[in-house]
Amino acid sequence: MALTAARPAAETAMAPADGLGPAGAGESGPLLQVRDLVTEFKTRDGWLTAVNHVSYELHRGRVLGILGESGSGKSAMLRTILGLQPKSTRISGEVILRGRDLIAMTPREREDVRGSWVSMVFQDPMTALDPVFTVEQQLVETIRRHSTLSKAAAAERALELLEMVQIPSPERRLKAYPFELSGGMRQRVVIAMALVSNPSLLLADEPTTALDVTVQARVLELFRDLKTKMGMGIIFVTHDLAVAADIADDIAVMYAGRIVEYGRLEDIVRNPQHPYTKGLLEANIRPGQTERPEAIPGAPPNLAKLPPGCAFAPRCSKVEATCWESLPTLDSIGLSHGVRCFVATREIQNAMPVAAKGA
Ligand SMILES: Nc1ncnc2c1ncn2[C@@H]1O[C@H](COP(=O)(O)OP(=O)(O)O)[C@@H](O)[C@H]1O
Ligand SMILES: [Mg+2]
Repeated sequence: MALTAARPAAETAMAPADGLGPAGAGESGPLLQVRDLVTEFKTRDGWLTAVNHVSYELHRGRVLGILGESGSGKSAMLRTILGLQPKSTRISGEVILRGRDLIAMTPREREDVRGSWVSMVFQDPMTALDPVFTVEQQLVETIRRHSTLSKAAAAERALELLEMVQIPSPERRLKAYPFELSGGMRQRVVIAMALVSNPSLLLADEPTTALDVTVQARVLELFRDLKTKMGMGIIFVTHDLAVAADIADDIAVMYAGRIVEYGRLEDIVRNPQHPYTKGLLEANIRPGQTERPEAIPGAPPNLAKLPPGCAFAPRCSKVEATCWESLPTLDSIGLSHGVRCFVATREIQNAMPVAAKGA
């Protein structure tokens, strides 16, 4: 299905709040650079490290899939980027979006960024919608908060946005209350809301997890469309490898707050190197298979009491003495492929021709 292009007229009316400058003009390099990001929460057990020295880059028109089990720090990472963590949270590192460090910004500046350059779509569409207002009322309100459009022009823009997210009979849907819509429709409305400011970065936190499989496939198709037609950069968080494989160009696998492997989709799916990534792939249903194979045995560690070595060691079939003692670094093992595992790195080095070793 084709995506209706945003009208250029609306774009000028949607200019970002003061100080942030015009969208996209003359910028080169990555859209987003996350550098050494650490997020720690104060808990009864002491400081809990939810995001542990995470670094990556995202370019315009690409989808970065963040893949990991529940509790691996995916949501904490997105919320940190958006500046939505409680005041007591300890945060360090850099989140450079279009040349500006969001971590170093004042709360006011960050709020402006949230209303213009970045939007987020959460797992449960009902949390983002108000049950007592119609879709039109909510969209118009959001549009007017972000622009100087009149009520009538905002209503027109609301209709355009519903068309953009491919909602059938959009005029009728505008008059509906959230409870009158199906789960898939509601998530499309939430995505429309996220598009109001024409963001350059879209953060999606398991946005299809609550949907059934066929609806999920269609919403994923919509995300792909947004990426190509609007050139947005998207970070798409999921615990589901099949979803990541369907939507992502690049994947970062997160375990216990750290990236343990990253690469292009092909690298991760066809040539996984970390025992955890391999485990995720093996636990995935393949075509023709009816029963889900066994998931990786064991559970992730307590993030407030991380071991000194590899956090995956207690669950790893390849564990060695060193793995318990020291933390492996995230080593580059290809042009765009990296892994944090002593065993995998050694095996790759051993497999290399002698002349290339140590180069
Ligand atoms: N505000 C908070 N205060 C304390 N701990 C938190 C807070 N938010 C998240 N956590 C903890 O951080 C860890 C990572 O959580 P989360 O980012 O939600 O994981 P995921 O999204 O990958 O399932 C979990 O141990 C969770 O309990
Ligand atoms: Mg989460």
